[in-house]
Amino acid sequence: MRVLDLASGTGDLAAAAAEPLVPLGQVVACDLSHPMLRFARRKLGSIPPARWHVKLTQARAEALPFSDRTFHAATLGFALRNVSDLDATFLELHRVLKAGGRIALLEFGRPRSPLLKVGHRLWLSLAVPAIGLLTTGRLWPFLYLRRSILQFLEPAEVLRRLEGAGFRLAEALPFNGGIVVVYQAEAARRP
Ligand SMILES: C[S@@+](CC[C@H](N)C(=O)[O-])C[C@H]1O[C@@H](n2cnc3c(N)ncnc32)[C@H](O)[C@@H]1O
Repeated sequence: MRVLDLASGTGDLAAAAAEPLVPLGQVVACDLSHPMLRFARRKLGSIPPARWHVKLTQARAEALPFSDRTFHAATLGFALRNVSDLDATFLELHRVLKAGGRIALLEFGRPRSPLLKVGHRLWLSLAVPAIGLLTTGRLWPFLYLRRSILQFLEPAEVLRRLEGAGFRLAEALPFNGGIVVVYQAEAARRP
């Protein structure tokens, strides 16, 4: 079985996906950023199943260097907000999956309950930048995080776009009151 972990970052999802694939499966972990891939290589090297079952590749989500119908499943964690073209990313995911292949995409969302909404805004606008500045000395990544979460599409729109790219049975599962959303779908069979 072959699994793609797109926008893999430091490879945590890829490592988790590799574990049940022992002994024969493989995870291909892709990221745009060479520094992220270097970090992932060091980290995965110390995790036995991942060391042998994760292959790292530099690639843009919007133009993947894989043949059609290569993968049985794909994951993508917390990067839907980051890609430059979401529709192109979904089309590429669909193209490289075998018919019936499943995706699980994790992304931050915005809570619906009024009380949680206020707490979430305060957390993103005050606590996250303050903790970020104190721990890293940098403010802009945490302001970007706040902005990108507050401006990201509603789950219904993400589902509409997944279906537009050829996925079926798309659903959005909210966790922690909607602060995190898991999108699941299946690549439709092509004619
Ligand atoms: C917030 S990190 C998430 C990393 C990892 N998936 C996780 O859940 O920990 C976002 C990652 O997406 C990558 N990224 C952003 N735009 C991308 C693109 N267009 N194609 C591939 N990777 C991209 C970044 O380099 C970064 O490593």
